[in-house]
Amino acid sequence: MSNLPFANDAISPCIGLEITGLDLNTLDDDTTAAVRQAFNDRHVLVFRDQDMTPEQQVRFAERIGEPDIYPMVRGLDGFPMITPIVKEAHEQVNFGGLWHSDTTYLEKPPMATMLLAREIPPVGGDTMFASQVAAYDALSDGMKAMLAPLKGVNSSSKADVTRTREDRVKGDEAKKSFDSVHPVVRTHPETGRKALYVNVGHTVRFDGFTEEESAPLLAYLHRHQIREEFQCRVRWRPGTLVMWDNRAAQHYPVNDYHGHRREMHRITLKGDRVA
Ligand code: OGA
Ligand code: MN
Repeated sequence: MSNLPFANDAISPCIGLEITGLDLNTLDDDTTAAVRQAFNDRHVLVFRDQDMTPEQQVRFAERIGEPDIYPMVRGLDGFPMITPIVKEAHEQVNFGGLWHSDTTYLEKPPMATMLLAREIPPVGGDTMFASQVAAYDALSDGMKAMLAPLKGVNSSSKADVTRTREDRVKGDEAKKSFDSVHPVVRTHPETGRKALYVNVGHTVRFDGFTEEESAPLLAYLHRHQIREEFQCRVRWRPGTLVMWDNRAAQHYPVNDYHGHRREMHRITLKGDRVA
């Protein structure tokens, strides 16, 4: 994007922007506004070479939005808003290891998530993203009309997803189940653009329909919404901070680095009711 006051490169045609030479610890108001503009346009911002303490990560998060507390996993000591996302060298299952938008089973899912890479395998452990704005735009008019009135039932207890966090959950939270109903197509509160808002991790059925009735159309949407031409892929380095828009993108952490440790520090930013 040429109108931004920092060096940047698109990662793919429709999603993702890599930003270099910007220190997130010293953002002024104009630069923060430019970061927001880039975020709204590109859904995924990749900031390289950040040297941040946990305090500084929280301060940056507070410049962009309001940090939230993740219900399932305990935060860092002294920083309840920072959730460590760790896969140890001996572990096989990775956190959130399937395509999803974050915690869509909450009534007000987080608008954004930021991950700061602390420890990264020598190769692998990339994260994929898919633009749900591009996915929506590519649907036929007939499909758009059919989806317009539908709502999706989102649950925290789909089996594949609970497996990806079962060793990590806080004691009592493991038993809790959250459910929320959201429009299948949402309108971005800042850009006005429409995006698909079902995901294979959490959406169990259409509201008013059985799971069996919902399954064929959901299966089609889950295939469609992650097509390669809607994607970008982020390769991490220690000190890379990625902030993504859960209202406009889904993500998938690639689990290809068994035998190596990976540690990310995660903050989510509060979102609105989905509309
Ligand atoms: C998350 C998540 C992706 C990753 O933190 O919400 O899905 O690459 N993580 O670790
Ligand atoms: Mn996630």
